[in-house]
Amino acid sequence: MAGQRIPVVIDCDTGVDDALALLFAVRHPGLELRAVTCVAGNTDVDGVVRNTLTVLERAGAGDVPVARGAERPLVEAVRSARHVHGADGMGDLGLPAPTRRPVDVDAVTLLRREILASPRPVTLIPTAPLTNIALLLRTHPEVTRNIERIVFMGGAVATGNATPVAEFNVWHDPEAAAVLLTAGVPITMYGLDVFQRVVVPGAEVRRLRASTEPGARLAGDLLAHRPAVPSSAVPSSAVPSSDGAAGDDPDGGLGDAGAVCAVADPAGLTTRLLPVEVSLAPGPTGGQTIVARRARPGEAEIHGGGRERAMVDVALDVDVPRYVRLYLRTVAETVAETTVEGPDGND
Ligand code: BDR
Ligand code: CA
Repeated sequence: MAGQRIPVVIDCDTGVDDALALLFAVRHPGLELRAVTCVAGNTDVDGVVRNTLTVLERAGAGDVPVARGAERPLVEAVRSARHVHGADGMGDLGLPAPTRRPVDVDAVTLLRREILASPRPVTLIPTAPLTNIALLLRTHPEVTRNIERIVFMGGAVATGNATPVAEFNVWHDPEAAAVLLTAGVPITMYGLDVFQRVVVPGAEVRRLRASTEPGARLAGDLLAHRPAVPSSAVPSSAVPSSDGAAGDDPDGGLGDAGAVCAVADPAGLTTRLLPVEVSLAPGPTGGQTIVARRARPGEAEIHGGGRERAMVDVALDVDVPRYVRLYLRTVAETVAETTVEGPDGND
């Protein structure tokens, strides 16, 4: 219904870009963040809980319930991404510990409670390995009756990051991702193909870092930790020093936050309903999301091979300026007209 806020629940592994996503979800007027659940991924689950509580407090959302979830994937061992997100999982920014604690129920219980209690169907936004989501769907399948859509950051149509073909969130727990695809509710896959393109220009990152408003400043510091190109290609000297000297401000990737932008403004994302399956095979294809883009079935199907594949709204293109403007206007309520062109995300 026009004008009503969209009830959302985020499952995350905060995480520099998960933090960017939380900041946006808290501040966008069209979203009602009902709960946040935590899972091991970028760092250990207790670090994720700590980082999540810290970000919500800094964003002025200290009342949003947070619950601790799975400590490790369903089958695989824990394989963190600390080399990307820092030892503390959130860019080693040295933020003070949160004053609040998580709720006294586990993530699956909180997910079930908040989804079924919502007066309107919930949009579930996983920005992490899908372990909690798989456990929820297997333990309480009744939750699907009040889920509008699952918009998950994960997978890739083309190139991976954890491996040449697999994206980290799916690769970290491929079995859980396969369970997600059987959820039986509409699913949007916000994969690397769009995830890696939504980048905030360095000048805007610098403006955010200079903000006197804590949430906007935190967004700037997080973006400065996320050079838009793979960290291996960005010499440490290119990451702006504390004085943010002009000219050496690298662009910053919004990462997971783009998936939340896609919920707030779906017109900025181009998707196509396609069959998707997750490779559970050990070896080089493990965790690959196999997106079937052929115009017609092939010999495998003709000769009776191939498994039942889930139909997923796969993101194939994204209006980058639209989402960058949307993010900056939402988190910082300002955006420099000069550096980010393109249609207004709120059209
Ligand atoms: C995903 O990996 C994590 O490091 C990020 O937080 C994001 O969710 C991208 O592959
Ligand atoms: Ca994440």
